[in-house]
Amino acid sequence: MPLLPAADFWRSRFPIFEQQTYINSCSQGALSLEVRAAYDAYMADWDAKGSPWEYWVERGEAARGAFARLINAKPAEVAVMTSVSAGVSALASCLDFRGRRNKIVVSDFAFPTVGQISHAQELRGARIVHVPVAGATISYEAFERAIDEETALVALSHVSFRTGARQDVAAVTHLAHRHGALVLLDSYQALGTLPIDVRQLGVDFLVGGTLKYLLSSAGLAFLYVRGDLVAHLKPTSMGWFSQENIFAMDIYRNDPARDARRFEAGTPPVPNIYAGLAGMQIIERIGVEAIEGHIRELTDHLIGGAMRQGYNVVTPLKPSQRGALVTIKSLDVSALVERLAAHRIIVSSRENNLRISPHFYNNHSDIERVLEALRANKELVA
Ligand SMILES: Cc1ncc(COP(=O)(O)O)c(C=O)c1O
Repeated sequence: MPLLPAADFWRSRFPIFEQQTYINSCSQGALSLEVRAAYDAYMADWDAKGSPWEYWVERGEAARGAFARLINAKPAEVAVMTSVSAGVSALASCLDFRGRRNKIVVSDFAFPTVGQISHAQELRGARIVHVPVAGATISYEAFERAIDEETALVALSHVSFRTGARQDVAAVTHLAHRHGALVLLDSYQALGTLPIDVRQLGVDFLVGGTLKYLLSSAGLAFLYVRGDLVAHLKPTSMGWFSQENIFAMDIYRNDPARDARRFEAGTPPVPNIYAGLAGMQIIERIGVEAIEGHIRELTDHLIGGAMRQGYNVVTPLKPSQRGALVTIKSLDVSALVERLAAHRIIVSSRENNLRISPHFYNNHSDIERVLEALRANKELVA
């Protein structure tokens, strides 16, 4: 595997591979020794120092910086959140749907939380228009039909958690901007697997978190807001950590931070910040370009093998139209996931699709093991 330096070393940092073929990073990244040590360090600091708040706030700033580097943003454009949902809710709370421009266009690839928060804005005057999936993709033309001069926001999904299809974000963003609409991109399923550059993509907002390919646990996410928009957006979903001076402790006024911290809320998720930093550090050390190349080799192998075995690959075949997640149609996907688990292979499912999602710690032997297990259970594969 020429593209990935020290592949065996990195795999050895993830004890789960001593027991299992773990190939389910679209649900949850595997636990590394580094992330485990980060949690231990959090407890050791707590034990030794009691309440080192200055240091904990500094760790939060380090997380802001790490998120910013991952997407080529400035730290001042990043709000550190506890979930994507919290980030999208804070953003939605800034938008005014009382005028003519009151439409939210939602890609049907969106994670449910994005659709649900959008529909919650109906109480505030928003109209929601969905852009349907046709086959395994959503065409540019489908967005053309949905986006117009009444569109306030277009909510896109970078890589679909259902099928693994990748959206042509720059093209749809360009279209949305031509109509004066803003664009929110959910990159959760792409972060850590593809180089992401908010300047190149042109999006106005981007959300993601550490749970999956950033190798950490639940409870840490972020919202990127394009720098020149921050001052114009006034969240009503916020808290004391969104204030310009957190420790002003002023109960008589709301004085939002000048930067994207204004979208944050309460006490930051300190343990998750320790862990998230450790996970992101691994991704930075290996390098996202190298990870992308490695994943591409594995997904090519998997798709080629699955097709030779006659299976129905749902994920688009063109590399530019897919992410790290490959989906294969199944006749009884719950049974298939269980059968693979009996072979010590951990995968997941959505609808009737089997989801197989390699990361840098996977290798060609893992793919062969998956293909072999599918052969052994071919009556469950469509
Ligand atoms: C595309 C996508 N967005 C968002 C989420 C999660 O959102 P939240 O952080 O609000 O739980 C997930 C996975 O859980 C996801 O796959």
